[in-house]
Amino acid sequence: MYRVMLDIKSQFPFFTNHPDVVYLDSAATTQKPKVVIDALADFYTNDNANAGRSSYSLASKLATQIEHIRADVQRFIGAHDAQEILFTAGATDSLNKVAYSLGMNYLQDNDEILYCPYDHKSFVLPWLNVQKLLKDKGIHIRMVPFEMTKMGSIDREDLFSKITAKTKVINATHIHNIYGADSDINQIKKHIGDKDIIINVDASQSVGHIPVNVQELGADTLSFSGHKMFAGQGIGVLYISQRLQQFIPPVFVGGGNGITIKDRNKEISSFTQSYEAGTQNYAGIITLGKAIEFIEKVGIEKIHTHLAELTQYLVSKLRSIKGIEFAYGPYYWRCSDGMGIVSFKIDKISPEELGFILAEKGILVRTGDHCISTHDEFNDTIRVSMHIYNTKEDIDKLQDVLEKIVG
Ligand SMILES: Cc1ncc(COP(=O)(O)O)c(C=O)c1O
Repeated sequence: MYRVMLDIKSQFPFFTNHPDVVYLDSAATTQKPKVVIDALADFYTNDNANAGRSSYSLASKLATQIEHIRADVQRFIGAHDAQEILFTAGATDSLNKVAYSLGMNYLQDNDEILYCPYDHKSFVLPWLNVQKLLKDKGIHIRMVPFEMTKMGSIDREDLFSKITAKTKVINATHIHNIYGADSDINQIKKHIGDKDIIINVDASQSVGHIPVNVQELGADTLSFSGHKMFAGQGIGVLYISQRLQQFIPPVFVGGGNGITIKDRNKEISSFTQSYEAGTQNYAGIITLGKAIEFIEKVGIEKIHTHLAELTQYLVSKLRSIKGIEFAYGPYYWRCSDGMGIVSFKIDKISPEELGFILAEKGILVRTGDHCISTHDEFNDTIRVSMHIYNTKEDIDKLQDVLEKIVG
């Protein structure tokens, strides 16, 4: 396994060019394999066109290629139909589009949205924004918070106790960006059964880390960013199930919709035409296709096993650091199932200072509030996040430097 991992690491030019860097910030963004970088350069060098806008073959070839990648994404996340896959600018864009579409077209006065206030701001703020927009129109929706457990996952008991006849949407993070735990989203679907409640999933930290199957999860929507799974930045995915597509009309307009200003009241027939109005990030979509190819070649199960082993090793090594306090997550549960994310703080040293010292030693970690708006206890931590190119040696180096710092 170790040789295989070194072989995988050698496929990332970043590490060849920075042999001394220990990159432990993959939850922020992953490094890119050569196949992805080459595909990006190749597109702009040889194939650049505007897909489907012109009749020459370069444009129509690109349009066909984009549809093939849509089908690849469909297979990769277990969607039923390729038309359920919409390309966006990233998870934040996807999550805003879900909140806005549902807010403007589906929600009614007194409807309730269940959410976890400790989730990523990109998941929480769009809903608070929509709540305000609706309030200005005299429609009041209630944002109902639910708790999370010390394991770092959704507190299902609390969540289930808050479901009422007015609940319309449950916002569920699949793997938390600080606590790194799997929230077993499928249990939510099992609990609500056929009730008309939308399960809106943020899978930014799970896709590309563990197998993700939208049908098994029972997700009605699922959002993620390409750049956290080896693709380029500025490309994301929004899955909207066929079931949900029946209830919300496609709302976004622009070039490529087939709508003219004269007949602007005409309904747009296709979800992909609507959510992908205007020129798309074709280069980004191509990198996403290559990233999926890369992940499937390595094997998603192998990636998960590697992350679980590294998490276990990391927690065991960090335990010996004087004054360490772990945030929720793998420390509290079976870190043998870990997802590669562990957050902590060390007594008497601010995370910012610690991050600065680590960076000076070539160890790159995330510090600060990690885009969470509340949760005072762990608002400010060091987050270590790993991926397929990380090794136990990286963790040994981290432990070594931390031990020297705390004395
Ligand atoms: C759980 C979670 N949701 C949403 C996002 C937003 O992703 P992006 O900045 O790529 O849009 C992130 C990014 O850190 C995340 O970790």
